[in-house]
Amino acid sequence: MSTTVTPTISITDVPSNVTVLAQTPQLIALYTIIRDVNTPRADFVFYSNRIIRLLVEEGLNHLPTQSHDVTTPTDLTYQGLKFEGKICGVSIMRAGESMEQGLRDCCRSVRIGKILIQRDEETTQAKLFYEKLPTDINDRYVLLLDPMLATGGSVIMAVEVLINKGVPAERILFLNLISSPEGIALFAKRFPQIKVITGFIDEGLNDEKFVVPGLGDFGDRYYCI
Ligand code: PRP
Repeated sequence: MSTTVTPTISITDVPSNVTVLAQTPQLIALYTIIRDVNTPRADFVFYSNRIIRLLVEEGLNHLPTQSHDVTTPTDLTYQGLKFEGKICGVSIMRAGESMEQGLRDCCRSVRIGKILIQRDEETTQAKLFYEKLPTDINDRYVLLLDPMLATGGSVIMAVEVLINKGVPAERILFLNLISSPEGIALFAKRFPQIKVITGFIDEGLNDEKFVVPGLGDFGDRYYCI
């Protein structure tokens, strides 16, 4: 038996620090492929990567810029812009590593740090195992990468690691493919200064704290199944 679900959070109710990608037919078609239980891994990877690219492009729109004039080959001045500060990526392993290439494709030779946080499958509580971050991370804007936001435990722990390293919360942007309304609400309340760019806010969490309808275990589908 199958049931259909509709999001329980309307686009107008999302917290002000959260940006949801424009729900275009193209985006919905991409999500339809990666949500389909019958999609083979090669297609899951390809179409997830397309959404990741859209998230990164949108995330870059939220970084501060400053005026930057250049002279064109017609010897005229073009009054343009350039990014104001240095950036880096930080992926929450393992699934977040899938988003690194999308960031690299947009930001050549970008520095990338890693934080290994795993949800305990029995308790669903997040646990920190490892972190390796750029030494000057406190001087950078950080694009935090993890495709799924369920309870919010993992990303909250990752942000605490970054703040302990001296990164101001205002300089962190969290990019993810699918959020639960519960996770979004908890994260936005805890860190109202942090911008979240998400592709879709789903119906909610099931008893095992998986996002539903979701797409299953992103890390397994991207790397293993
Ligand atoms: C998944 C996902 C997030 C986390 C979300 O990772 O990639 O990191 O769960 O759940 P939360 O919001 O309730 O913390 P998981 O721990 O399954 O590890 P994986 O990256 O190896 O798949």
